[in-house]
Amino acid sequence: MALSGLSEERSELGRSLLARGAMAPEWMDSFLAVPRAAFLPEVIWPFDIDSGTHVTVDLSEEPGLWSSYADADVPIVTQWDDGATSGGSVRVPTSSASMPSVVFRMLRDLDVQQGHKVLEIGTGTGWNAGLLTHRLGRDNVVSIEIDPAVADTARDRLAAHGLLGLVITRDGALGDPQGAPYDRIIATAGIRRIPAAWLEQLRPGGLIVAPWGTHFSNADAIVRLSAQEGGAGGRFTGPVEFMKLRSQRRPFEGHTAYEPRTADAEKTTTEVTEPELLGEGRFDSRTFALGLRVQDCYQVAAATRDGARPVWFYGLEDRSWACVMFRDGGETTVWQSGPRRLWEEMTRALRWWQETDEPGYERLGLTVTSDGGQRAWLDSPEDSWQL
Ligand SMILES: C[S@@+](CC[C@H](N)C(=O)[O-])C[C@H]1O[C@@H](n2cnc3c(N)ncnc32)[C@H](O)[C@@H]1O
Repeated sequence: MALSGLSEERSELGRSLLARGAMAPEWMDSFLAVPRAAFLPEVIWPFDIDSGTHVTVDLSEEPGLWSSYADADVPIVTQWDDGATSGGSVRVPTSSASMPSVVFRMLRDLDVQQGHKVLEIGTGTGWNAGLLTHRLGRDNVVSIEIDPAVADTARDRLAAHGLLGLVITRDGALGDPQGAPYDRIIATAGIRRIPAAWLEQLRPGGLIVAPWGTHFSNADAIVRLSAQEGGAGGRFTGPVEFMKLRSQRRPFEGHTAYEPRTADAEKTTTEVTEPELLGEGRFDSRTFALGLRVQDCYQVAAATRDGARPVWFYGLEDRSWACVMFRDGGETTVWQSGPRRLWEEMTRALRWWQETDEPGYERLGLTVTSDGGQRAWLDSPEDSWQL
């Protein structure tokens, strides 16, 4: 796939990214010169919005469809299960070409200037590294990928288009001490704790942009942290969902490990309604905010069946669990078990969210310190709590 050739779909995508404010105008030249298609393998697994699932598309069999997905605003999975499988029923996506609107929102937040040196964590297909290299030059972009096969393929694709800076195969949590200091660090894998190495390798006045979240759900948010004395701090800029940094995946051992027998659990009822708890889907800011308040907890909202919808909460440090059963027209039952009373923690957090005028992502922020500390805050770092 050559770097030239502007399809109808790609022109439309560029226009829409600009119109939505997802892409800063200064990225347009790189968007036009470095198409995502040039970094994709022959077989891709784009997310199909209509069916809500990933579909398999082979370039050699359906070239038109392949190209239209490459130029669409959808995430495209390029690896499952760390490369162990490409099919089967239990598959976890582990490498991808992110959604163009997410890529450009993060690049917008990164606010790069000519002469800046950028470190990217999570090379993946190499597309984002290619965009950065087109803008800043080969000497100014270093990208780190943990998976050797993924890194090799990205190097080949970047080299084929004259965009190969340095791609290092290693755990990105270590950063790149040799190349430091960096003006900008961008992570394209979901982060749970900002590694101390990144803070050490960030130039004074520098920025870190990363998809950050708690283990509560997959609903992360982009955080934009400015270097400050002893660490970095800043606000969230909006919702996002990313595959996680390998070493920071959720430590959940599965439902059955909790032996959730309702007969042995404490049973009560609640006045909290389903929309009050879950809001409008997985990118509702309340889910993210509740995860900041109720720590070491994982929420799973199961599908509604026969008019009943269970929402489960699992303690990640012990075997505490809670289940809230919403029923059409009926009373809402709560079961809780284990050392923690997770539903009580949840209702306290929900009350906090409501009493603080239901803060959106932009009112929430994060401060991280080089000794590994992380504090979340509402409106100002003065109103913070430890994570
Ligand atoms: C969403 S993809 C990155 C998308 C990529 N920037 C692009 O333009 O295609 C996430 C990547 O992060 C990599 N990754 C996961 N854990 C990592 C780690 N600890 N260090 C470096 N890379 C990691 C995965 O192997 C995967 O390729």
